Amino acid sequence: MLSYRHGFHAGNHADVLKHFVTIQLLNYLGQKDAAYTYIDTHSGAGLYALDAGYASKNAEYETGIAPLWDRKDLPPALAEYVNLVKELNPSGKMRYYPGSPYCADKIMREQDRLRLFELHPSEIKILSENFRKLDAHAAAQGHRPTTRGKRVIITAGDGFEGLKALLPPPSRRGMVLIDPPYEVKDDYRRVKETVQDAALRFPTGVYAVWYPILQRMESKQLPERLKRIPGNGWLNVSLTIGGVTPDGFGLHSSGMFILNPPWTLEATLREVMPYLVSVLGKDAAATFTLESGETQVIGKGRGKPVSPPRTPVVRTRTR
Ligand SMILES: C[S@@+](CC[C@H](N)C(=O)[O-])C[C@H]1O[C@@H](n2cnc3c(N)ncnc32)[C@H](O)[C@@H]1O
Repeated sequence: MLSYRHGFHAGNHADVLKHFVTIQLLNYLGQKDAAYTYIDTHSGAGLYALDAGYASKNAEYETGIAPLWDRKDLPPALAEYVNLVKELNPSGKMRYYPGSPYCADKIMREQDRLRLFELHPSEIKILSENFRKLDAHAAAQGHRPTTRGKRVIITAGDGFEGLKALLPPPSRRGMVLIDPPYEVKDDYRRVKETVQDAALRFPTGVYAVWYPILQRMESKQLPERLKRIPGNGWLNVSLTIGGVTPDGFGLHSSGMFILNPPWTLEATLREVMPYLVSVLGKDAAATFTLESGETQVIGKGRGKPVSPPRTPVVRTRTR
């Protein structure tokens, strides 16, 4: 089923959480000179117009990037994300919103590698065209081309399947963003199995999974299942902007689960998440949670499913 178009949701609160965290993970990988690989299993179109087309229908960006746009008190890590979006809008008017491939391309260096998968026939065309334009723009400014050569490879196909052949990456350093539409409940199963398989092929990789927080059982179970995958610890952060509305429509809460997170991420989230709740929160139900834990240490009994040892879990609520 391929009815999902990310354009309807571009720049909403879930995109803010996902793209802010993704930028933090890429920054961490970029601290060393050695090249790394970023793999986006579900890339979308890469770039979205906010004032036309799908995004203008429900204006979901009003729940996310819009309230952050003019803030002068952004925590530094969040300011970096907002500035990245602003650079895409040099007129100062909020017209375009970057998808995860664009965010990654902006943060990544010449030596790093982007591997992008997208299954939807229209989205893949737009994604390829967007990168072609970025390439032309960079060339016109005398910068290195992005799509030529080995730096960016865009593949039309199933990202869950395609990921397997890319792991481990030649540089043995990298991260994978897994961000499916979850329109079909099989996505929940495939996410868990994909991370489990990937962590065996490339145990030191950083894995980031975005997931919606919904009433359905699969949504509640996914982070719990991901916590049991062997690795060097995990972080689970969620952002809720308000309570479920009487009509039951809309997404109000989502999470990012990170396997093998950089040790610096938890402190950054402690600073940024209360701020996001205070600015994006719509009612008294607005909150965030932040949990961390240890899983089985890499290298010992790889591949054997084990229950994680009981470790202290940090849970924070505001409002
Ligand atoms: C939530 S959107 C991705 C948004 C993007 N990661 C971002 O943050 O800008 C999910 C995308 O996955 C695509 N898709 C669905 N199933 C897929 C699959 N099995 N493999 C690759 N792409 C898939 C959809 O067409 C959609 O464009």
